Amino acid sequence: MRATVSPDGRITVRDADGAVIAEEAAPVSWTADGRAVLRWRIPPDAHFYGLGERAAPLDLRGGVYVNWNTDPRTYGPGDDPLYLCVPFLLVLLPEGRGAFGLLLENSARSWFDLGRTEPGVVRIEVESPHPSPTPLRGEVSCILFFAPTVAELVERFTEATGRHPLFPRWALGYHQCRWSYYPEERVRRLARDFRETYRVPCDGIHLDIHYMDGYRVFTWDPRRFPDPKGLIADLHGQGFKVVTIIDPGVKADRNYRVFREGLERGMFCRYPDGRVFIGPVWPGNCAFPDFTDPRVREWWGDLHRDLLEAGVDGVWDDMNEPALFGEDGATIPGPVRHNLDGAGGDHRVAHNLYGLNMARATAEGLARLRPDRRPFVITRSGWTGVQRYTAHWTADNRSDWASLRQTLPMVLNLGLSGIAFTGSDIGGFEGFATGELFTRWLQMSVFFPFCRAHTYFASHDQEPWSWGEPYLSVNREFIQLRYQLLPYLYTALWQCAQRGVPIVRPLLWASQDDPTTHTLDDEFLCGDALLVAPVLEEGATRRRVYLPAGRWYDFWTDDVLEGPGWIEAEAPLERIPVFVRAGAAVPMGPEMDYVGQRPTDPLTLHLYPPAEGQEGVSFLYEDDGETIAYQRGEYLLHRFALSTGRLEWTTEGDHNPGPRRVEAIIHRGAGQEPVRLEDIAPGVRRLDHLI
Ligand code: GLC
Repeated sequence: MRATVSPDGRITVRDADGAVIAEEAAPVSWTADGRAVLRWRIPPDAHFYGLGERAAPLDLRGGVYVNWNTDPRTYGPGDDPLYLCVPFLLVLLPEGRGAFGLLLENSARSWFDLGRTEPGVVRIEVESPHPSPTPLRGEVSCILFFAPTVAELVERFTEATGRHPLFPRWALGYHQCRWSYYPEERVRRLARDFRETYRVPCDGIHLDIHYMDGYRVFTWDPRRFPDPKGLIADLHGQGFKVVTIIDPGVKADRNYRVFREGLERGMFCRYPDGRVFIGPVWPGNCAFPDFTDPRVREWWGDLHRDLLEAGVDGVWDDMNEPALFGEDGATIPGPVRHNLDGAGGDHRVAHNLYGLNMARATAEGLARLRPDRRPFVITRSGWTGVQRYTAHWTADNRSDWASLRQTLPMVLNLGLSGIAFTGSDIGGFEGFATGELFTRWLQMSVFFPFCRAHTYFASHDQEPWSWGEPYLSVNREFIQLRYQLLPYLYTALWQCAQRGVPIVRPLLWASQDDPTTHTLDDEFLCGDALLVAPVLEEGATRRRVYLPAGRWYDFWTDDVLEGPGWIEAEAPLERIPVFVRAGAAVPMGPEMDYVGQRPTDPLTLHLYPPAEGQEGVSFLYEDDGETIAYQRGEYLLHRFALSTGRLEWTTEGDHNPGPRRVEAIIHRGAGQEPVRLEDIAPGVRRLDHLI
């Protein structure tokens, strides 16, 4: 595929045979109100993906999507825009006619009309940062990415815009949140419930806004949390990590250090006449730091010192679209000025960059203050490239089945937009989850990178035990399974940090030639080996599952199935259909209550032999899980090449996982006892007599 530019500046994209697959329909034009209009003729049967966080199907064709980060208060399928937009569009033409990506570089409000108004035309409109009739020429910029597959396009795109860092391993544990756990005694009871009463594994306890003193960021409520350091030390003693919420709004209160300091040092956003912009959020009237200013980012980052000294492990950046109280979509007014890293501009161009830069300030601050530890930050808002700094969650959805169903395509398109460490509020945020809804949501989410239950202030308890049996046992088993899968999930995270490969991928990722996968968004791949088909309907105890070409093993029964084709799979409450790609080696560890409670001992390699004459290659990545020593070569990368007759295991890197047992379990199909091999080691092992 290649692009050519005609003498009038129009770009034409052709496939390898020279056929036109996309062309600019006309040079950029302008609407009366100053919007730049770009029109691309793209065949009407093209599929579209990406665009960040969209409550839409995986294939975005036929929709109009706005790029303007917005707090919708709560949302359901079809609501647009949401908290995090990425103006990166992936275009896939069916029948092997190619794929390409288009990134709009402008940060002003924009619209992507994907064939709704004019079939066969992608219409992109970009708001002018200057009122009409000031000409915009030269201010609209797109980057085209070319690669034969969506998978390679995402690699190229993340090469250009950045990839997730290797988050600490505990980030992959189970997290529990609500708005809000307080006072201190409630948090201690939550910890006891996990460790003693119900014995459910958990790593992260998240403190929502009530831990603060009158919602003043970087403070603690002295009555609810009189001794944060003591509390966090005790939680650490039980293996928990603590994540605290931070909002951008700084309470306008002259007796409050952060506000006084910010005012004196000129850290807040101002109107062109120099007045500080003040708007209402949780604490009442607030000033808003201008995170697009490097000086402000440094100041803000350093403000996390006290939280870290109290022992806080991670930071949750919220409300950073930024959202204000008032009418829907309220935010900082357009004329308010921003530094924009020296370029200067107003909120109309800085708005979409606000959350990204808050997340950046936070992550850079944590890295500076605690250079030996990897920062863990999650953000609600963001923009192209926010993955360099943080993880993300899909925020204020609803506790209903439609929202559960919606979550999966959202997470898939976020991954294709470079933002791969994501998940949704398990059980849903607003409303009241039933035991069944929570369990089904959790069963899907244990295969998502970010696995956190959360709910809003007025809801009932939403913990894994809140509905009693049979839900508690099923929830516990699935969370335990996640902990056993940690070696596998951490390897997928490493691949993501290395190459931008999302952890949760649509089936088309590995089967782009199969048109059925182009719109399939109720099942997904987790890492290289697993295909997961969550249950998304109330009362369902079976579901249809599409298996793409190749041999698959049923994860629960070892049944061997051949794709491509549809199957009917059993899905009683205690199970969702999961399949393993033949040829895979899936590394698993022992059960544990929290990440790092014990070493990965034994390390169990589940081997799923490929069809005769084929070979599968799998990886296992290990390091200390916390520091940045891996950047100096202290990691251990295992490569497993598996064929029917042979396993070849090689390693690379200096990390020493310590003495441990390594065993292999060879899965041989339903009705056949798996073969267990004790004490295996790197090298070549013949397996033909075993299969
Ligand atoms: C926002 C967040 C939600 C949080 C609430 C209170 O709505 O999206 O997760 O619980 O604010 O802080």
